[in-house]
Amino acid sequence: MTEQRTPLVEMKDISIAFGGIHAVDQASIDLYPGEVVALLGHNGAGKSTLIKILAGAYKRDSGEILINGETVEIRNPRDAKQYGIETIYQTLAVADNVDAAANLYLGRELRTAWGTLDDVAMEAKAREVMGRLNPNFRRFKEPVKALSGGQRQSVAIARAILFDARILIMDEPTAALGPQETAQVGELIKQLKAEGIGIFLISHDIHDVFDLADRVFVMKNGQVVGQARTTDVTKDEVLGMIIMGKCPPGATPGPGAIAG
Ligand SMILES: Nc1ncnc2c1ncn2[C@@H]1O[C@H](COP(=O)(O)OP(=O)(O)O)[C@@H](O)[C@H]1O
Ligand SMILES: [Mg+2]
Repeated sequence: MTEQRTPLVEMKDISIAFGGIHAVDQASIDLYPGEVVALLGHNGAGKSTLIKILAGAYKRDSGEILINGETVEIRNPRDAKQYGIETIYQTLAVADNVDAAANLYLGRELRTAWGTLDDVAMEAKAREVMGRLNPNFRRFKEPVKALSGGQRQSVAIARAILFDARILIMDEPTAALGPQETAQVGELIKQLKAEGIGIFLISHDIHDVFDLADRVFVMKNGQVVGQARTTDVTKDEVLGMIIMGKCPPGATPGPGAIAG
């Protein structure tokens, strides 16, 4: 049972307000190694804000964050990276005009003993990491702007795992992709899972993520409606959680669940 292991991430009773708006209100979520947890809810439910607190982009007003069972202080994105937390945003942070290897090492280039760029080592490592994620990828010499959305996505993910991400946050990863590319991202996620990486998959569309997820958390108005294993609930039941805030018998209700 995963419950007996130490979670990779626990966010407990997290709250943040912007002006008078409680964007996130006493939300608790967790994630285990090798697990895919989907964070679902309508636009404005508070998903991105909650996850940006984990990524160090926002500072919480209250609540606690534990990584591998220990309380941590995440003040900025650099702190988050130190805990192995990497974020793949919807707007992929890839440099369009350079190739995959250059993207993997952007700002962290490998150098030879003479101080020049070690292109050979960087390309070899790029081939190794990309090969693990996406064995069919061949376009190492092309600028990233020539790649498909799915291939760009794999470059962004390779960059994260190259620097030892243990916790990957993907915020609406398939929002800009076609069906074939979405399937490709699904394959990437399975690969990462097999490597023991924990993944938060954020989406406003249950159909994008339900089949990939081991568990789902549903948010509404900044609160957690409930959580469930995807084997214990149907898609329609999760839709009921998203739309009405109503928890089915197979789910564990959170503070945002409506009674009855
Ligand atoms: N930087 C911000 N300043 C003010 N309000 C914000 C900010 N970020 C998010 N919000 C508000 O917080 C709420 C939750 O937004 P968000 O986390 O983006 O939702 P989701 O990702 O679920 O669509 C919304 O009401 C949104 O307008
Ligand atoms: Mg969002």
